[in-house]
Amino acid sequence: MKSPKVALVTFGCQMNKLDSEIAEASLLREGFLLVDDPAEADAVLFNTCAVRAHAEERVVSRLAALYPLQDRRPGLVLGILGCMAQEHGEAFLERYPRVSLVAGTGHFHMLGALLERALSGERVAALEGGGDPDSDRRDPRAVPVGPRAFVAVQRGCSMGCAYCIVPSVRGPWRSRSKEDVLRECRKVLEAGAVDLTLLGQTVDAWGRDLSPRQRFADLLRAVHDLPGLKRLHFVTSHPLFLDGETASLFGELPRLARWVHLPPQSGSDRVLRAMRRGYTREKYLETVRAVKEGSPDVEIAGDFICGFPGETEEDHRETLSLMEEVRFSQCYVFKYSPRPGTPAAAMEPPPAEVIRRRHAEALALHERISAEKNRSLVGTLQEVLVEGPSPRNPDRWTGRTVHHRIAHFPARDGLRPGDLVRLRITSASPVSLAGEMEEDR
Ligand code: 5AD
Ligand code: SF4
Repeated sequence: MKSPKVALVTFGCQMNKLDSEIAEASLLREGFLLVDDPAEADAVLFNTCAVRAHAEERVVSRLAALYPLQDRRPGLVLGILGCMAQEHGEAFLERYPRVSLVAGTGHFHMLGALLERALSGERVAALEGGGDPDSDRRDPRAVPVGPRAFVAVQRGCSMGCAYCIVPSVRGPWRSRSKEDVLRECRKVLEAGAVDLTLLGQTVDAWGRDLSPRQRFADLLRAVHDLPGLKRLHFVTSHPLFLDGETASLFGELPRLARWVHLPPQSGSDRVLRAMRRGYTREKYLETVRAVKEGSPDVEIAGDFICGFPGETEEDHRETLSLMEEVRFSQCYVFKYSPRPGTPAAAMEPPPAEVIRRRHAEALALHERISAEKNRSLVGTLQEVLVEGPSPRNPDRWTGRTVHHRIAHFPARDGLRPGDLVRLRITSASPVSLAGEMEEDR
């Protein structure tokens, strides 16, 4: 029998991309073929994000765009996976009669079997049960790993920030054992990865839920020592858990990339309290100082939410002043989006035009700061881990500096993804650097 073809489309964060890899391995194990073009597929599956309403709207419109294809080929299975599936549950099947598979966040590693049932005409909702994939599920022979690989060290979140849907769709903290994490890291390094990112919603809280309790700094040290590793990152950190020991590792571990993703969300103590973040602006700044103490050049990346319910103009100015004070290398600035079932959903946000204006001001400020920071790097030498050709211009390659900045440079024979090169920076934009390989000059 011919193998059914599946197109899997991924929305959202790095954890979703990793979940899609796990889903693909399951599909390949069950004999499916993966295709990019939905027009060729017997099933189109969306791995979804629920963190903001906008992310959900994009999925729904992509889904509706496939209806004409399904009219022509009534056997085409449409499926919703991950966070949105978990949020809406079986109601999704009732509301969208053309969808016949809804699989929650614990079912990626058993997707092949679920899809078989959907292809044979059943309408399938898999939401309860399931579980987390262990390292044995990662199969680099089926889904090849590139030079940059991601390894989930902790799933779920137990923090309950007032605006956030993640704990309800991904469940409470589940740290994986150190041995399991190391086994998976070794596996991807042996398969050719050289740059590892440890993933968790609050990655620096890894080990708190294990018994006996374990320290994240010890995990970082152990992964850092694995053979074949050239660079190590960890995302996303929570300011409450990034302790002095972890901060000091930036001065200690040479292959640890010199940046940390440490979202403040707001610069105002009043808003931080209402968000239930558990720290103050001053405590946040203390953490930044601790990180920079061991290694002053470490860059901080941040997330901010503009327009949280009750945010005043003064609160907003506190956010802008925190941006000025920390001078983030990268900033993701979001408009507040009410999420069903979260405590903040019952509160009144500022008017939409106020949120829009504050968001635009924060973005513009960050753009100015990152342009200044990047410009100051022109003329410097940067060590860049090569990722590969730019998607739009194969004569130009891209990579990342140790501070996680994107850098472009002219292609050269013999260059391979995963190589480390030294670039002399020749120009800069707010989002990237451009340079030439030092040996070229
Ligand atoms: N509205 C806007 N942004 C949100 N985030 C999480 N929940 C919401 C929400 N309801 C942002 C936070 C988080 C990032 C992943 O998404 O800044 O760090
Ligand atoms: Fe959401 Fe807060 Fe958990 Fe981050 S720490 S995933 S913002 S609940």
